[in-house]
Amino acid sequence: MKRLDGKITLVTGAASGIGAATVRLMAREGASVVIADIHDETGEAIAQEIHLDGGKAFFVHLDVSREDDWTAAIEATVARYSGLDVLVNNAGVYLAKSCEEATYSDWQRICSVNLAGVFLGTKLALPALREKARTSSQGSAIINMSSTVGLKGSSVDPLYSMTKGGITTFTKSTAIEFGNKGYRIRVNSVHPGPVETEMAAQHRKADLNDPAALEAARQAIAASLPIKRVAMPADIATAVVFLASDDAGFMTGSSLVIDGGAMA
Ligand SMILES: NC(=O)c1ccc[n+]([C@@H]2O[C@H](COP(=O)([O-])OP(=O)(O)OC[C@H]3O[C@@H](n4cnc5c(N)ncnc54)[C@H](O)[C@@H]3O)[C@@H](O)[C@H]2O)c1
Repeated sequence: MKRLDGKITLVTGAASGIGAATVRLMAREGASVVIADIHDETGEAIAQEIHLDGGKAFFVHLDVSREDDWTAAIEATVARYSGLDVLVNNAGVYLAKSCEEATYSDWQRICSVNLAGVFLGTKLALPALREKARTSSQGSAIINMSSTVGLKGSSVDPLYSMTKGGITTFTKSTAIEFGNKGYRIRVNSVHPGPVETEMAAQHRKADLNDPAALEAARQAIAASLPIKRVAMPADIATAVVFLASDDAGFMTGSSLVIDGGAMA
């Protein structure tokens, strides 16, 4: 018996980084997976790869800031797989600008993806998640991708930190709301420190054309962490799979930190 046997999962931002590692692992753990992203070609390629590996997956184009896209993605999921057990609100963008540099339109852009995206996904997936929760042993699950800077300040991106802090408290608030309403939907957030993805490369954009500087930056991060290595997307995917599984059946409203000990 695999950990996600029979579960239907939708992961946003699944064409890259943490989201891609998550859908690959979910499929290997027996889930029927929906890969949702704005990058159609890479998303389709990951679906194809999962098929070749013997798993179940399909891609939907979903811009998480667009209500119509959400409605269509949930409808496609329910039509294809007959329901939805797990929603992972993973899509997110990073700005890498100080408060002085950032503009109001930067603020609107980052909030439309990182905050509106999580709200719309939670609201529009709710009927399907509630329906499945009625018959599953530990209910349905929502996992929201926050960050360590959703629990403390950021020295490089205050607007990103603002959105991730919002995700942290929205997670707890919806865990209370859905719990009190008897919906049997667990809502938890995940808080990675720096992870080796496109986003981390963007964070170190000054070093992108200088492999030696990039490697030095990577080693500096590793040296600063008690665990003495940098995080890979799979390190975060394993935690998401745990929260999606019935093993986390008594967890709701929690903030799961996966940071190699940085916050310690
Ligand atoms: N990489 C890190 O260091 C790190 C640390 C903490 C938290 N996170 C969070 O993890 C999540 C995944 O980040 P990642 O590092 O894998 O980044 P990534 O850039 O590799 O992947 C992000 C994915 O989100 C998609 N995306 C962007 N805007 C979208 C939109 N409007 N609708 C749908 N999809 C959209 C992108 O196409 C991409 O596939 C994000 O929420 C990020 O904030 C990342």
